[in-house]
Amino acid sequence: MKGLVLLLGLAAVAGLAVRGGDALQQPVVPAVFVLGDSMLDVGNNNHLPGEGAPRANTPFYGVDFPGGPKATGRFSNGYNIADFIAKHLGFERSPLAYLVLKSRNYLIPSALTRGVSYASAGAGILDSTNAGDNIPLSKQVRYFASTKAEMEAAWGTHRVSAHLANSFFLLGIGSNDLFQTNPKSPAEVAALYATLVSNYSTAITDLYGLGARKFGIINVGPVGCVPRVRVLNATGACNDTLNLYAAGLAAAVKSALTELAPKLIGFAYSLADSFAASQASFTDPQSVGFVSSDSACCGSGRLGAEGLCMKNVTLCPNRDTYAFWDSVHPTQRAAELVAQGAFDGPAQLTTPINFKQLAHKRY
Ligand SMILES: *[C@@H]1O[C@H](CO)[C@@H](O)[C@H](O)[C@H]1NC(C)=O
Ligand SMILES: *[C@@H]1O[C@H](CO)[C@@H](O)[C@H](O)[C@H]1NC(C)=O
Ligand SMILES: *[C@@H]1O[C@H](CO)[C@@H](O)[C@H](O)[C@H]1NC(C)=O
Ligand SMILES: *[C@@H]1O[C@H](CO)[C@@H](O)[C@H](O)[C@H]1NC(C)=O
Repeated sequence: MKGLVLLLGLAAVAGLAVRGGDALQQPVVPAVFVLGDSMLDVGNNNHLPGEGAPRANTPFYGVDFPGGPKATGRFSNGYNIADFIAKHLGFERSPLAYLVLKSRNYLIPSALTRGVSYASAGAGILDSTNAGDNIPLSKQVRYFASTKAEMEAAWGTHRVSAHLANSFFLLGIGSNDLFQTNPKSPAEVAALYATLVSNYSTAITDLYGLGARKFGIINVGPVGCVPRVRVLNATGACNDTLNLYAAGLAAAVKSALTELAPKLIGFAYSLADSFAASQASFTDPQSVGFVSSDSACCGSGRLGAEGLCMKNVTLCPNRDTYAFWDSVHPTQRAAELVAQGAFDGPAQLTTPINFKQLAHKRY
């Protein structure tokens, strides 16, 4: 029986690799598990109850989705960062959303052959961030714990343990916590970092306790430069205060990981620096093929950031030449560049190793 399940599992992996077309290699990890926010969400929010959850389920979202147009829940014109990281790892695209898999009764086959995405738009490190309208990080971790329990029922603890230790855990969260808070004093700023870092470390430690070993983490970036924030400034400049908060949080996360790693035996990570990764886009957009890095391609009004990305807006002429798809999220092309940098870019974009080196570790 176990042998049959294994064979079916291998067949499923091989099938995915062949269907990938341009990603013809065998996946280098058994599965990818994704936790985070709208940068990585592939449709969880479409299945949340209530009106308030942010959803990318209408045109022009997905206008360039391969085989589309199709609005899948990705906050992008096509693939997002999770898709490109998964492609680098040898999969067709990001694993499907947890709530989608649940609704199709396909959670465990997916968890055993390609992974699961728990990422949810609007989510924060803190449960209080946009509370009620997303799956906060702590709940994403709980969903993973329940997935693991079901996997063990199917495969047994020993095999699940090896599977998870070799799987790639992709994390990206923190921007929404920053958008939501406005500390009034340096003491409040310090307290904010302490809370965020403590809860982020708890989530990472919990995942480690559940068997995760390889963590590819995308750190918070210059959130003060997104069109929705820029449009609040008369000259369209980045919000330097918000960027300082983000840089402070990014530095705090970096040092927390440095302290955490030696305490957790077998823990391996790669931290991608989103400030460094997006620097060229903002300081010299042409050098990376962008004509715009301050305006939304899909939106309306000043910087395309006064009206939402909806079916009635006029899209930018060439989506691959814009850094921003809507007033907050990168275009497919910008997502591809970020993923490329994290996976296999210059050494200054990741620390202490890159995502590729992390993926190739064997447990
Ligand atoms: C921090 O994390 C703990 C454990 O996941 C959770 O119970 C708590 O609600 C979180 N605190 C906040 C402020 O989100
Ligand atoms: C707008 O941005 C400019 C340039 O960074 C800055 O000098 C100015 O103070 C900003 N305006 C507001 C209202 O923050
Ligand atoms: C910049 O961000 C800070 C921190 O969130 C906020 O207090 C300030 O109002 C913002 N400035 C502008 C012009 O939006
Ligand atoms: C698109 O439609 C919405 C209402 O459905 C409206 O608020 C918005 O202003 C329209 N945008 C444009 C660019 O016409």
